[in-house]
Amino acid sequence: MIIAIDGPAASGKGTLARRLANHYGLKHLDTGSLYRAAALTILNAGGDPADEGLAIEAAEQLEFNRFDDDDLRTPGVGDAASIVAAMPRVREIMLRRQRAFAGGPPGAVLDGRDIGTIVCPDADVKLFVTASVDVRARRRYDEALERGQAVQFEEVLDDLKRRDERDTTRAVAPLRPAADAHLLDTSELDIETAFQAAVKLIDGETQTGCDR
Ligand code: CDP
Repeated sequence: MIIAIDGPAASGKGTLARRLANHYGLKHLDTGSLYRAAALTILNAGGDPADEGLAIEAAEQLEFNRFDDDDLRTPGVGDAASIVAAMPRVREIMLRRQRAFAGGPPGAVLDGRDIGTIVCPDADVKLFVTASVDVRARRRYDEALERGQAVQFEEVLDDLKRRDERDTTRAVAPLRPAADAHLLDTSELDIETAFQAAVKLIDGETQTGCDR
């Protein structure tokens, strides 16, 4: 089974994806980490994330073991990730890696921006997770404080708005729900309630498929 989860920054898709993977015994890939890791490699070397040559090189040399790094989850890296992610050649490289991960047993949950539309258009279930921008900024701000990162709420809010704009308007693989995605608005849902709602949608969908 492949479950595709897309949505804007801090919509709750990452936490949801991890919990669903655990619940259904599937692998999980946070595809945003790929773009963040490429961006961080460039920033750490003092490079400009808008330099396409550097971005392609970073994408090609990306190692999967870097993805748990706390350094990936800063507003600066998120912003640089969305610059790198708008480059078609970078997306091609990432696409190969994501499909290789999704293929094979026991199946996987992938979360990102273009999973239901481009990476896994034949996924068994697609969810598009949203929440209001203020709720999303508040969540990201609280996470940063918990990690001990010094951030301002306004800075987090501006970062989310800038990334949403870049992610939805780019020419390749823009953020948008697949035609057959279920929308899940988590503005007023805590993690547990969102998880239960997703399980209900997934179980309903996979049972009506008869032969799945
Ligand atoms: O965790 P958050 O939702 O803030 O962001 P993320 O999922 O880690 O993604 C960081 C950036 O990578 C996004 O703003 C997108 O520009 C890009 N991205 C993408 O283009 N396609 C994906 N499948 C996943 C992330």
